[in-house]
Amino acid sequence: MENTKRLWLLLGVVIAATMFILGWFGRELYRQVPPIPQQVVTVEGKRVMTRDDILRGQLVWQSIGGQQLGSIWGHGAYQAPDWSADWLHREATALRDILSIKFYHQPFSGLDSVDRAAVKARLKKEMRTNSFDGASGTVTVSSERAAAIGKTAEHYLALFGSDQDLAGLRESYALHRNAVPDPERRRALTAFFFWTSWAASTERPEMNFTYTNNWPHEPMIDNRPTTANLVWSIISVVILIAGIGGLVWYKVFTDREEQEPLCASTDPMDKIELTPSMRAAGKYCLTVIALFVVQSLLGGVLAHFTVEGNSFYGIDLSAILPYSVARTWHIQLALFWIATAFLAAGLFLAPAVGGREPRFQKQGVNVLFGALLLVVSGSLAGEWLSVKQVFNLENSFLFGHQGYEYIDLGRFWQILLFVGLVLWLILMLRGLWPAFSQKGHRRQLVLLFAGASTAIGLFYGAGFFYGARTHLTIMEYWRWWVVHLWVEGFFEVFATVAIAFIFTQLGLIRALSGTRAVLISSAIYLFGGIPGTFHHLYFSGTPISITAVGATFSALEVVPLALIGYEAWDTYRKTFVVHWMEKYKWPIRFFMGVAFWNLVGAGIFGFLINPPIALYYMQGLNTTPVHAHAALFGVYGLLSLGLILLVLRRLYPENIWNERPLAIAFWAMNGGLALMIGLSILPIGLAQTWVSIEYGLWYARSADFMQLPFLETLRWLRLVGDTVFLAGVGMLAYFVAGLITGWSYQTDHAGKKLELSPWQGKQRDLSS
Ligand code: HEM
Ligand SMILES: [Fe+2]
Repeated sequence: MENTKRLWLLLGVVIAATMFILGWFGRELYRQVPPIPQQVVTVEGKRVMTRDDILRGQLVWQSIGGQQLGSIWGHGAYQAPDWSADWLHREATALRDILSIKFYHQPFSGLDSVDRAAVKARLKKEMRTNSFDGASGTVTVSSERAAAIGKTAEHYLALFGSDQDLAGLRESYALHRNAVPDPERRRALTAFFFWTSWAASTERPEMNFTYTNNWPHEPMIDNRPTTANLVWSIISVVILIAGIGGLVWYKVFTDREEQEPLCASTDPMDKIELTPSMRAAGKYCLTVIALFVVQSLLGGVLAHFTVEGNSFYGIDLSAILPYSVARTWHIQLALFWIATAFLAAGLFLAPAVGGREPRFQKQGVNVLFGALLLVVSGSLAGEWLSVKQVFNLENSFLFGHQGYEYIDLGRFWQILLFVGLVLWLILMLRGLWPAFSQKGHRRQLVLLFAGASTAIGLFYGAGFFYGARTHLTIMEYWRWWVVHLWVEGFFEVFATVAIAFIFTQLGLIRALSGTRAVLISSAIYLFGGIPGTFHHLYFSGTPISITAVGATFSALEVVPLALIGYEAWDTYRKTFVVHWMEKYKWPIRFFMGVAFWNLVGAGIFGFLINPPIALYYMQGLNTTPVHAHAALFGVYGLLSLGLILLVLRRLYPENIWNERPLAIAFWAMNGGLALMIGLSILPIGLAQTWVSIEYGLWYARSADFMQLPFLETLRWLRLVGDTVFLAGVGMLAYFVAGLITGWSYQTDHAGKKLELSPWQGKQRDLSS
């Protein structure tokens, strides 16, 4: 402990200080949320909508999939429009035409440039001026604006109903017919859309920018990047360069020769005895693969929606499986199989580390498995029923669809999942318990492992801090506590410590240097990562301080990622000094993949959208799924698969794997991911960025732009990467199935499975 005391202290201080920052600025965010008016009235006193309409509308939006169908304030799905930006543009266009007729008695298109400028000035004044009266909670609009609001609402009433004239537009949006059959619900939905657009176009009191910091870009009302947005962007780039520079210097000045680890002549893991609970974790591995297969196929279905709209070889696919359900399942299953893999790895490693089997551990593992299956099937079914509009609005949130991306599942299922995570935590800690009292540096790794697992379990609880009708800004704050703090915080620590742990177990690195490396990298990563949460909230109705903190700290997240690939490669080089390491070749290759995508997917593609000025134009464009796919699958997908392969390797330790399908799977999945991004999503995202800067976000997301032939072609090209990727997934499933049936093992001429002796790792030696 002596050698690492200061590092532990560093980690503790970093976590305490940065959580304080997250909470402190969270308080500011609470104080400055855009108001939801009690009512919106015209100057003549006619009521346009009430607070209840807006909040009910929010629930309606949530019930049809919310962020899984188009987006609000840039968060959500990318095929249908961003409803806030779309509403804003439609309302502004309608109001402009009304003002033009009123003051100049002719349509806007017929006006000369001076009159146009005058109309624009009136439009801007009308839409940007803040008429919210805090005392009465009233927003007052002119009768012209009320007319424009009414006209815009008509469009959405038709769109979410079954109006035949809009069938083509629905096709482009992959929006199913009659998505909200109840006209009263549809009307409430328009009130909610209006309010999100109102917050995006109305200036904060005493300020010259809107509640959403002038997002989205909309030249009609001069919604443009704020000064603060640009300044903090420049600062964030400088901080990144300084951070990377500092890292290089540190490396150069402190690069001492590490002690070479002692490589055992036999596999140290062979000493670990398989306990009943470790065997019981085997079914988790198969579940991971099964969920992964379904999840990837759903990805194929979604890609189909984007090119062919709602139909599939003549049948109306969207009537059975609406786009928003397919997308919800696609994302939720991704989280489920990744989480299941983590659970499996934890449950498998814990008794191995502790050195004995706690009582009833096996039963616990089985109960948890049952609970998991219940949550997966129950929540997916609930989401489908909700989008089908079966529930009343309250039950829809409880048992159906919360409408919030990554935490889509109904509240009831969310509670059950949380209970499952706590159960997992208890099982893990029970398994690890004996190791806490051991002496030496290994104990510290065990402590770190337990700490990361605890944080993963407990931080899911942040998702309970909002309810069905919570203000959108506040909901987003807590939602990103879960999503961001998981993927850019505690998952990352879990990954680092799990891999370090396995490598020390294999004798590839020493426990002391493993512990030091984990402590240092976790401290650096969390320092940027925890306040970095705010990079998701630049434009969600938050004050400027959120942009400042988010942009500067999250730039630092990229710094350690710059080194990670090199470190991994360095370890990898040392890997095959002993023959028995060959049998871990594939899990280790998957971990190498993790390091690669950590730099490319998380670091580079993450930073592409990270400076406030970049995200100002790109939020809600395809540049985000570029990053999300490369980081979520690249890092946590490959990590999960690597962990599963390691567990499977230990569960069936005797026989030699026939690794060809695994090699194909690995390269096809990585290559497919790169092709899908390089040939399709990234070019689409960049093309969208261009027009978003030129004409506004609404256009980058509009059917007019998205249906241009070259974009259609780019979406078709996605088929290439998707096919390669799916082939890889198929191969992986084939391989894992073969571990059960037997075809994934090498056999001799007589068909007998070849055995792997502890000192004979090299399959070549045996098979020749
Ligand atoms: C392995 C690590 C990471 C994973 C798994 C990950 C995953 C994700 C996911 C799933 C999203 C949401 C995409 C969507 O809403 O469609 C996202 C958004 C984003 N990520 Fe990451 N990310 C990682 C690391 C990073 C890093 C290091 C940065 C930059 C420093 C970053 C910056 C962003 C930004 C700016 C957004 C968009 C925010 C928004 O639209 O509100 N991410 N990421
Ligand atoms: Fe993030």
